[in-house]
Amino acid sequence: MASIQQSAPTNRGQWTGRVGFILAAAGSAIGLGNIWRFPYSVAEGGGGLFVIIYLFFVLAIGLPVLLAELSVGRTSQRNPVGAFKALMPGKIWPYVGGLGVLTGACILAFYSVIAGWTLGYLGKAVSGTLVAAQDGEASGAIFTAFVADPLWPILLSGLFLLITLFVVRGGVAKGIERATTLLMPALFVLLLALAARAITLPNGMDGLTYLFTPDWSKLSLNVVMGALGQALFSLSLGMGAMITYGSYASRRENLWQSGLYIAVADTGIALLAGLIIFPTLFFAGAETAAGPGLVFVVLPTIFNQMPLGTVFAVAFFSLLAIAALTSTVSLLEVAVSYFVDEKGWSRTQAASAISFFCFALAVPSALAFGAVPALSGGENSILPFNLDFLTLNNNIWGNYSLSIGAILICIGVAWVWGIPKFLSALEAGENRTFPMPGREIVGLLIKIICPLAILTVFIFILVTGRYF
Ligand code: TRP
Repeated sequence: MASIQQSAPTNRGQWTGRVGFILAAAGSAIGLGNIWRFPYSVAEGGGGLFVIIYLFFVLAIGLPVLLAELSVGRTSQRNPVGAFKALMPGKIWPYVGGLGVLTGACILAFYSVIAGWTLGYLGKAVSGTLVAAQDGEASGAIFTAFVADPLWPILLSGLFLLITLFVVRGGVAKGIERATTLLMPALFVLLLALAARAITLPNGMDGLTYLFTPDWSKLSLNVVMGALGQALFSLSLGMGAMITYGSYASRRENLWQSGLYIAVADTGIALLAGLIIFPTLFFAGAETAAGPGLVFVVLPTIFNQMPLGTVFAVAFFSLLAIAALTSTVSLLEVAVSYFVDEKGWSRTQAASAISFFCFALAVPSALAFGAVPALSGGENSILPFNLDFLTLNNNIWGNYSLSIGAILICIGVAWVWGIPKFLSALEAGENRTFPMPGREIVGLLIKIICPLAILTVFIFILVTGRYF
């Protein structure tokens, strides 16, 4: 493996080209966030209302922050800590990158537990037990038994981290790009087929109504915060993943165009997942607010209703595991690029040490669904707000920390680096056929609207004392 010298940007990896870059970044964005987290956040947020607020945040905050992160990365050609050091004078900015490194590792810790579940479900799909589940109750029983096991969820999350470590060790272009290029389009086609089946199930239309009709009486801070967190989480923003991926992009890349493609693909896949889950949910008659188990409880019943159900189930969980892998890789890559660039560690050393840290933190999340009642939420919980350990981490790192990171990135880019530099970095690159409409609007969003909007949500939360 080529050794990577400290702060020598020319020796870092690079994507092989435009398509590779867009696919890798889309691979980071598209993952369990779209297929596992989005539907269950929708269910907790009361359906269509959540979806509308989420779409608004994707457009008004997600896309601008995505463009900001990509520009910071490409211009500095560094990891998040190095990028802030290089572009923004002042001692505090590297800590924003540092917060991102920590946040990424902590997200990876609980994310790998859910990713481990997808492997477990792949096994169940292969053996046929999953596809035999005819209704929500039957598949709910399979789920409850599976996640309450004290051993398998831990082993599978460890296995998933090990696979992630392996890919990240292989370096940027070879490891990450290759995994994405073929499999993302395959996932898309499979999801389309499942959505077509779901919508035509008995009661399927009720699911569509639920997904797209806002019930404004459900409006609350939790819904708004959840939608903001989901918009950032799903686009891999607020912790430097897109800074890191942008840093491997060539100077010829038109970032505005790439960013737009990434955001559209990510949001499309999330909505598609909704089009599968909610019609099936209304068909299967499972509880709407099933929490983190929602997708795993609902999906088996759709396979039961399909010809070649086992084939579809195996294909689905394989592709979901791979989509999760291209995301875990980006979560790990941020911390690895930091220790490699800034601390002079080897890729292998960095990737192994961080994966180990994540595994230690994954264990309590893996035990949070019945195996250890004190961690599993409800009245026996020893954790704040009676949450389970995984949901607590999901909220802290996946909603709050990403939002704080996003505000700081906006402020740094707009007020320290400067909007003119940001815009010209964004528009540099070859493509003149795809001009950016409304550069003033993008500037205004990053400078005023995004930080103010996120700050407002935080102030409301502090004032009303509603933390989760
Ligand atoms: N966006 C990914 C998903 O939807 C998860 C993810 C990868 C992520 N990298 C990230 C989330 C960085 C937040 C920050 O599954």
